[in-house]
Amino acid sequence: MKFQERKIDQMQINPFQMIGKEWMLITAGTEEKANTMTASWGGVGVFWGKNVLTTYIRPQRYTKEFIDANDTFSVCFFDEEYKKTLAYCGKVSGKDEDKITNAGLTTCFYGETPYFEEAKLVFICKKMCEAEINPDYFIDKEADEKWYPQKDYHRMYMGEILAVLEKSQEDA
Ligand SMILES: Cc1cc2nc3c(=O)[nH]c(=O)nc-3n(C[C@H](O)[C@H](O)[C@H](O)COP(=O)(O)O)c2cc1C
Repeated sequence: MKFQERKIDQMQINPFQMIGKEWMLITAGTEEKANTMTASWGGVGVFWGKNVLTTYIRPQRYTKEFIDANDTFSVCFFDEEYKKTLAYCGKVSGKDEDKITNAGLTTCFYGETPYFEEAKLVFICKKMCEAEINPDYFIDKEADEKWYPQKDYHRMYMGEILAVLEKSQEDA
């Protein structure tokens, strides 16, 4: 077994480093078709009494269609050597090419949820709620102009973390 299931409340992780600096791949879809994109905005925490992971996805992302069409998604973290792969997945769209194949990633499944064999850590998430990022509620009024000149407001997806898979040292 390459990955081992871990209990998230027994893990020492730094989400600011992992999400903000090392980045993550958000993936959703089926065995027939899946898509992935890089993200560096998001969070982990607790909501409705569950451990959750939150992502923010702009409407034009192809990955959004897959997240909308499926109940679950995965979030994968990688070693530094995959930084170029993540940069690639954050630049090209699956609308234009077979991004997963071209990125050299190998899709595998937790139940029906796609994730990548090359990852070091994987969060399997079940959509719990989604919300529009609405400028009417911006306290920081400068954020609208700074981050949304095209008015392409993110959609927030909060997922319950169903499982955490970590690659075991022996197979790394
Ligand atoms: C470092 C990095 C972080 C990114 N973070 C986000 C993000 O949090 N939300 C988002 O909507 N797009 C983000 N993007 C942009 C998408 O990854 C990018 O537009 C991607 O090509 C979308 O692919 P898709 O159309 O196949 O879904 C990021 C890109 C990079 C390089």
